Parts: sequence; C-alpha cells; structure tokens
Amino acid sequence: MRTDTGQVFRLEDYRPSDYLIPETELDFRLGDESTLVVARLTIERRPGVEKPVQLELDGDGLTLRRIEIDGEALDAADFDATPDRLVIYNPPASGRFKLLIETELAPSANAALMGLYRSSKVYCTQCEAEGFRRITYFLDRPDILSVYTVRIEALRSEAPLLLSNGNPVEAGDLEEGWHFAVWHDPFPKPSYLFALVAGDLGCIKDRFVTASGKSVELGIYVEHGKENQAGYAMDSLRRSMKWDEEVFGCEYDLDVFNIVAVSDFNMGAMENKGLNIFNDKYVLADEETATDADFANIEAIIAHEYFHNWTGNRITCRDWFQLCLKEGLTVFRDHEFSADQRSRPVKRIAEVRTLRAHQFPEDQGPLAHPVRPRRYREINNFYTPTVYEKGSEVVRMIRTILGAETFRRGMDLYFERHDGDAATIEDFLKVFEEVSDRDLSQFALWYHQAGTPNLSVTTTHNTATAKFTIELEQSVPPTPSESRKRLMHIPLAFGLVGADGKDMAFSSVEGATVEDGVIHVRKRKHVVTFEGVTERPVLSLNRGFSAPITLSIEQRPEDQIFLASHEGDAFSRWQAFNTLLTDATIAAFKSILGGKQPAFSADLTGLAGRIAGDGSLEHAFRALALALPGEADIAREIGKNIDPDAVFAGREALAREIANGNSGVFSQLYEDLRMSGSFSPDAASAGRRALRNTLLDYLAILPDGNKRAAAHFGSATNMTDRAAALAVLAHRHAGTAEAKDALAEFDKRYRGDPLVMDKWFMIQATAPGAATVDAVRALTEHPAFSIANPNRVRSLIGGFASANQTGFHRADGAGYALFTEMVLTVEKRNPQVAARLATALRSWRSLEPKRQAKARDALLSMQAKEGLSADLRDIIERTLA
Ligand code: ARG
Ligand code: ZN
Repeated sequence: MRTDTGQVFRLEDYRPSDYLIPETELDFRLGDESTLVVARLTIERRPGVEKPVQLELDGDGLTLRRIEIDGEALDAADFDATPDRLVIYNPPASGRFKLLIETELAPSANAALMGLYRSSKVYCTQCEAEGFRRITYFLDRPDILSVYTVRIEALRSEAPLLLSNGNPVEAGDLEEGWHFAVWHDPFPKPSYLFALVAGDLGCIKDRFVTASGKSVELGIYVEHGKENQAGYAMDSLRRSMKWDEEVFGCEYDLDVFNIVAVSDFNMGAMENKGLNIFNDKYVLADEETATDADFANIEAIIAHEYFHNWTGNRITCRDWFQLCLKEGLTVFRDHEFSADQRSRPVKRIAEVRTLRAHQFPEDQGPLAHPVRPRRYREINNFYTPTVYEKGSEVVRMIRTILGAETFRRGMDLYFERHDGDAATIEDFLKVFEEVSDRDLSQFALWYHQAGTPNLSVTTTHNTATAKFTIELEQSVPPTPSESRKRLMHIPLAFGLVGADGKDMAFSSVEGATVEDGVIHVRKRKHVVTFEGVTERPVLSLNRGFSAPITLSIEQRPEDQIFLASHEGDAFSRWQAFNTLLTDATIAAFKSILGGKQPAFSADLTGLAGRIAGDGSLEHAFRALALALPGEADIAREIGKNIDPDAVFAGREALAREIANGNSGVFSQLYEDLRMSGSFSPDAASAGRRALRNTLLDYLAILPDGNKRAAAHFGSATNMTDRAAALAVLAHRHAGTAEAKDALAEFDKRYRGDPLVMDKWFMIQATAPGAATVDAVRALTEHPAFSIANPNRVRSLIGGFASANQTGFHRADGAGYALFTEMVLTVEKRNPQVAARLATALRSWRSLEPKRQAKARDALLSMQAKEGLSADLRDIIERTLA
C-alpha cells in the first residue's frame, strides 16, 4: 500500500519528459506467487533536450531483478532502484539506447487490484491511472506513447487463454506444459492502456464488418458456464460499433476486439486498446439474474468503453488533469447512444436524476473540484461524477451552443487534427472555436470553475403593452480554494407556454442573445423582454436541462401543475411534477419538525393519478414521474440542518397520501400492466415493468400490501420483478413473515451467484431505520459476503452508507461507527475502494448539529490513524477541510 507522502501535483507544473519510449517489448512468465517481467524499452532523448540528463522512471512496490543498457549489465554505481523509483544517472550520451529491466511480481498477493493481479484464478491487469508502474519501471504518464509487443508465457493447464492488446502475432508450445503467445499493437499508446489476461475462460465469438469493409473478430470471455449470459453484451457491442460509424464517423482499427469479464474489479470497466476488461457485473445478464437496469447499464458501459477507442485511445490525455477530455466526452457519447437506442426523453430524465443525486452533492460539498482540476494528491480520487457526468454536460452545452451540425464538424476536426496525440481541453475547445467562429473563453469556465451555478428568476407580464419580462441573476457559490467566481456563459433553453399548451410566438427580444429557443446568459443580470406577447405565458426554463444549474424561480403551484400537465418538452414536464413533489415533501418535513401533521394538496395527488393513467405518455416516463425524489435529493434541496428521520417521515407521508388518493386507479393499472409471453429487455417492455413495480411500491402501503408484494415476488418470472418485490417487502414490511420468507428464499435460490447476491445485500442494506445498522453488521458474516471483493463491499457497505439516510445517519452515531470500521478494514487491502466508500460522508456539514458532531468524530478518528493510504487520507482531509 502506498502511504501518503503529502505530495501535491499541480497542472501548472506540467512539463514534457526529457525522454521518450517509442517502443516497448514486454515478456511475462506468469506464476501465481512469482511472475517475471522482462521489459525491453527503446529510449530516446526528446528532440530539443541537448545535454545528457539522468533518466528517472516511476515504480510502485517493485522488486528489480536485472538491469541492462544495450546488452550490458549496469554497475551498481550507475543507478539507484527503490520499490518506487529507478534512476539511471548517466544514460548513453547518444541519447538512444535499449534499457532492459527485469522485475518480479506476486500477482496473488496483489489485493489492491491495480497492476497485475489474480481474479478467480485469472491473471489480469488494471493500469489506469498509475498501475503500470506496479508491473515495471516506466515513464508512467499518459503523454508517453509507445508501440507495444507483448509475449506471454504460462502453464497451458492453468492458462490456455493468453490475451494482450492489439493483434495476435504468434503462439505455440514450450517445454514442460508451458505455452506462449505474442501480441502486437501497432497504435502507439500510453501505459495506462496496456492490458494482459491469462486464464481458463469460456467465450462467445462474433464478427463485425466495418463501414470500409474491414472484418473484425469479436470475443467476449467469461467464466466457463456463463457464456449464455454474454449475449446481450455482444449485441450491445455490435450496436455500439455501428452507431459510432454512423453518428461520429468512427471506425474500428484492429483485427480483433476482445472483452474479458472478471469478478474482482475496482471500477466499472476499462478501455485497454483492443482488450477491454470489465467488471463482470457489466457483462453478464439474463432475465433470471439481471434487472432491466442491469441490461441498460451493460449496454451503456459496453458502448462507453468501445467509444474510448477514439475518444481516449486514438486521442488520449496529455496529463491526468485532462481526464475529462476522454471521460466527459465519452460519457456524452454513451448517453447519446443510449438515447438513440431507447427513449431520448426518458434517458435524459434518468441522466439528470443521476447528475443531481451524485454530482450536485459533490459540487456543493467539500470535495467540489472543477471538471478539469488544477491539483490533486491522488488521481484515483478524481474519477468523479464531476469529471464524468458534469464533463458530459459541458460537451452537451457545446453542442447546444453550436448546433448539432457545427458540433459534428468540430468533432471531425478534433479527430483529424489530434489523432495520435495526447491532447488537452484547450485543444478540444479550439476546434469548436474554429469551426463556429465563436469565442468560447467565457464558456471554458465550465471546465475551470467548480460549483453549481444558480440562476434566480422572476417574471412579469404586462397585458397592456404585450410585454413579458424575465429577470435573471446568476451566481456561482464559493467552493474549496475558490472563493471568488467569474460569470459563466449559461445556455438556457426555454419556452413561453400558452394556454393551449403550445409555445407562444413573440415579435422581438431585448436584453440577451436569444437563438433557437436558447437564452444565452453571460452577465450577472439580464432583463430579457419579449414583445408581442398578448397573453400571460407560463415560463418553461432550462428545457432538456440545457445547463447543469439550479434554478430559484418563484412559480405559482397552478403554473407548475399546468406545466406538469401540458408542457411539450418531456423533460420539463417531468421536472415540473418533480418540483411539486419536492416542495410538498419539504413542507411535510417542516410540519413534522414543528410537531404538526403534514398536509398535502388534493391537486397533487390527483395529478399523480392522471399521470399514472395517461396512455399518451410512455410507461417509463410515468414510472419516473411517480418515483418520489430521494431522501438525499430532498435533503440537498433543504440545504442545512438536516434530520434524516424527519425527511424520511415527510416523504413517507406524501407516498401514503398518493397511494390512498389513487388506490383504485393504481390497482386497476397494476393489473392491466401484467405481462405475459416471453421476456424481452427492450426499453418498452422495461418501461412497462418499471411502471408496474412503481405502482406496487405505492400499493404496498395500503392494507394487505405485504400480501400483494409477496404475491408479486412469488409470481415473478424475471429478476426485475423479483428484486422489486423483495425491496418492497424488505423496506415496507420488514420483519413480517412475508419479508423474511422472501429474503430466505432468494438467498437459497441465488447463494451460488455472487452478482445476484449483491442485490440481496443491497436491498437489506438500504432498508430504512435504525435496525439496519445491526443487520448490516451481521451480513458481513454471511458466507456470500467477502470484504476482498469490491462488488460485495459496494453493495453492502456502499449501499448502506450512500443509499440509506436513516440507517447510516442514525442519531446515536452507530452507523458511522460501523462505517469507519469497515472503511479501515477495506483500506488495508484496497485503498482505492476504501477511499471511494469514504466519500459517503461528503455532505456531513448539512446535517443537524448532533449528527454533524458525530460524523466529524468519525472522520477525525480515521484521520488519526497512522500509515493511512494516500487515497483515503486525501478524501478524509478534504472532507474535513
Ligand atoms: N477509464 C475507465 C472508464 O472507462 C475508468 C478507469 C478508472 N480506474 C481507476 N483506477 N481510477 O471510465
Ligand atoms: Zn471512461
């Protein structure tokens, strides 16, 4: 484990390295406890670096066995090797030489899952961001592009399959049951994209012919016996390849494309050139084991990693500060792909919900950072919702500002100009400035400035003059180490909705640039006046969530109800209803704190019933509309002094009111939505199930709700329905015979399938209430749980800490105590996963004082531990700062 050195990396300190590594040859002789790696590096002094300078290579926990330059062993006096660094004092003056380095690794002892490790007996690698230096000494930075040739030797009985990046070159037998394979990747790549897999795996194969007629062999490798769960991933891959050709003109470039699913993986997946490695959670699916959400995630992540082949691999990042260059852009691309494959409005609503649930709290708390950060202590802690999801929103805004056609021309220029480069955000913005002839310097603040901008809005209408006026004022809240903010360029899509539900025309506008239904806010204040507006319109603002901001707008409830019933932009329609629900929950929260019974308007419950039954709306849309805002979302809207028990009670009161007020409509609809016939994971069928399961959650509140949920569980023919019913039982009817039976039956049926057991852990970990703390502690002893596996840890501990407001924030601090203990236990093996878990406390300052003090104590107790990893110390100290 790398302990913290306190070193801070700064963007302004970037400078090119003195040496380049145009070619890299790696020979692996794989053994569980001892793997030998011989690296033969062609090293060149960078043109322009005149005098001979020492060569410093990165390492992390390495054991050096041999070192030679141009075939001669190096004298001890000529180099210095520590586990974390190799310095060669006087490299050959010619400036070009071959460096041979032999290191010895112990893959089975690698619990951090970075570098070369073993997952269920399979040898695999994870090198992004800085894992390659755990394999050999190297210039382990993304601007060092090298052409790799990799030779792998292993026992055939242990590892019949030997894979690396690029194209297969050669394979054959060796003595004593060993065999070998050689792979060559002609595309120069940074070390973080290196990958190797060796093991005994099953596989499905397919073929894809690219637009220009190149035939590509596709392979997906999974545990033996799971081949029939890989079909959806393969189908998603083929669709991704086709889509990227059609929409972005991006064609695949190697003879093979392989995906390997492993069960121990720190993140979702990794885009290694020609050899993507996936968390098996995002590959394996069938109706018996995967939910509709799992299918959608698989489709999105297969696409995401595939799309990286151009945005990330062909054009990579100059340094890790530029991470959003590949991640924000690739998320944008996978969002667009899913929107095209499924329902665009539904996808957009889901994206915004995710952004608000994960990125907004980050941006509004102590871990806030710009989409392109300027400093970091541990880069692994910057694979964040801000870099990914807000990064994607920024790309979306570029498209909104330029229009789809100009945006595409910008992308074409980006690919043409930067293919083979390690690029920066400045390079990226420049292509769009050139094709559009616009100045994007104010817009660029979206990359440089942290914090969620707020727009406060008031409107007036004057019937006599037929003028409609919008007053807008922007502000960007202070964030850590950025107290003064500059004014942003906010593209705000809008409509003036008339009584007939259609957008009203206006004759002229003053006070801001308005183009194609978008107000361009650039100043602190704008007074935008629309002329020729004879009737009072209802303003619909930030349509399609054109900018990732918060809006403070005084809008009458009847206007919100009007928008929720008539607005043509589906996102804004959802937003209007969601705002009504949020406001009602906040009012209930306040009543409860004041010791009063919450009361709700009949208009709201009536509207819920009408939306549920409105056949002109997609099922999935209705399901999203009826899903109440989450407790954490409500807490974020309230902002401070949060008592999670009161938030929960307020939300429950509203759910009860909606269920009681619509019992007839909901139960009729629930029956009508029953499905027969064979299962299909398509978006329409998934939407139907989603609506029916949302209705079940309401109906379960009513008398005999436990019986209905138990019947739903018992008759389920797929995992979506089964898991939904189990959650309803475990959350709404905890402790009843029905809940206990269902949990026991699920355990019995799926005990042997770890990914399905993750759902079982997660459902129990998110059961609201004080009792869950002890339940989670007990589940850590369950035979299906393993502290060494990131998926298990994230389901049980992560689920508890980030998706159980009442349990985690238990008033007596017992939730924090369990959490602290678990984070520190995980950290001993896997600092990266521990650090990610620890972010669950990022909003601690918005709690009421007693809980706040307990949360602070928990953070301080972790901070006090000696020898903390760089990963965890970074998160804890920023959270406390
Ligand atoms: N590049 C991967 C992706 O597609 C994520 C890898 C992150 N790995 C890490 N150790 N932080 O998003
Ligand atoms: Zn990515």
